[in-house]
Amino acid sequence: MATFSLSSSLKQKFVIVSFLFYILTSLHSPVNACFTSIFSFGDSITDTGNLLAIARSESRQLPPSAFPPNGRTYFHHPAGRRCDGRLIIDFLAEALGFPFLPPYYGSKNGRSEQFETGANFAVAGAHALNSSFLSGNIIPSRSTNISLAVQVNSFKDLLSSFCSSSSDCKEILMTSLIVMGEIGGNDYNHAFREGINIKEIRELVPLVVDIIISSINELVELGAVTFLVPGNFPIGCSPSLLTQFQGSDKDEYDPLTGCLTWLNQFSEYHNELLQKELEKLRTRHPDVNIVYADYYNPTIRFYHSPNRLGFEETLKACCGSGGPYRFNASISCGYPQLDPCCNDPSSYVSWDGIHYTEATYKLVASAVFEELLNSIPCLNMGEGIPS
Ligand SMILES: *[C@@H]1O[C@H](CO)[C@@H](O)[C@H](O)[C@H]1NC(C)=O
Ligand SMILES: *[C@@H]1O[C@H](CO)[C@@H](O)[C@H](O)[C@H]1NC(C)=O
Ligand SMILES: *[C@@H]1O[C@H](CO)[C@@H](O)[C@H](O)[C@H]1NC(C)=O
Repeated sequence: MATFSLSSSLKQKFVIVSFLFYILTSLHSPVNACFTSIFSFGDSITDTGNLLAIARSESRQLPPSAFPPNGRTYFHHPAGRRCDGRLIIDFLAEALGFPFLPPYYGSKNGRSEQFETGANFAVAGAHALNSSFLSGNIIPSRSTNISLAVQVNSFKDLLSSFCSSSSDCKEILMTSLIVMGEIGGNDYNHAFREGINIKEIRELVPLVVDIIISSINELVELGAVTFLVPGNFPIGCSPSLLTQFQGSDKDEYDPLTGCLTWLNQFSEYHNELLQKELEKLRTRHPDVNIVYADYYNPTIRFYHSPNRLGFEETLKACCGSGGPYRFNASISCGYPQLDPCCNDPSSYVSWDGIHYTEATYKLVASAVFEELLNSIPCLNMGEGIPS
């Protein structure tokens, strides 16, 4: 299965889907008869402005996403995202004919109409596990206490402003796409940063997966029937963790990619467990469509054959400072830094050492979109495309 050189027919297919994806993301018109709303949950991989809005509303120090060069490629100004441009959730929203998902938190007036076609509950820094559990385990919430359970509760609050009876609410959720994640990355990254050993961090994985599964179950009870559930990225290739574990034994690095093998195996462990539990959920709820979004395999391809996909730099952050990976944990991209940002973010896989460039997100989103097309019958391409 794990062949990283695309066979020619696969490559052709990839080109066709990418093209289709390109067309769809440029159309900005509804191309599906499936969904009337999208609701998403997660962390900074998916945050389209929540942490920024929260910080503004509480007059706290603004997060890095408030400052350039974040946003420079697509929005041409900081847009609340830890990226030079659009995130995977932005590309998926565009491809499905939706506007970018508005961040739920921090909006002063709390008008619910603005969320009728969707809302984003993902907050940068969010954990899957709740803060009382994590502080018991000495893993601090650095930027937010809005864990996944808090996000799901906020969603329920919002839903109750749209519908008054449970059957009304079910009707709304029948045509909603729920994007559950990526979440859990921070539980692990923050634990690694605290120097907790891998054996103990592995013990968090079933707990994280449990929270994801129970959140899906809660939404199924409310009537949601379509879920997209992303796994984790190959964190062994991330400049932040490569910097932290710099100088590891030579045989701990994959000679082909320069990534740390044991950290990538950790991501795979999370992803395998998540998929196993999703399979059980499918058996339990045969009428619910649960699509796993593979972030790992599309991304690992960039490290195996970067040039083929237009990348020149895989292990250095585009927006970062110092060291072999251009990453320094005490200087976040957006805060004043030592080194200038790279000239061409689209030739870098990593944006700031933790998050990815728009170019990376676009390719991953394209693979995820193909997965959606294959798994959701009513997204059948004959249907929504304007002729
Ligand atoms: C926090 O999470 C732990 C472990 O999942 C759970 O036992 C506990 O009840 C949760 N606490 C709150 C306040 O939600
Ligand atoms: C998170 O919760 C803890 C405990 O309630 C609190 O001390 C801390 O200030 C909170 N952090 C943030 C960023 O809200
Ligand atoms: C990271 O940046 C801080 C603050 O500028 C500096 O003191 C430190 O030496 C840097 N660390 C590395 C590894 O370059």
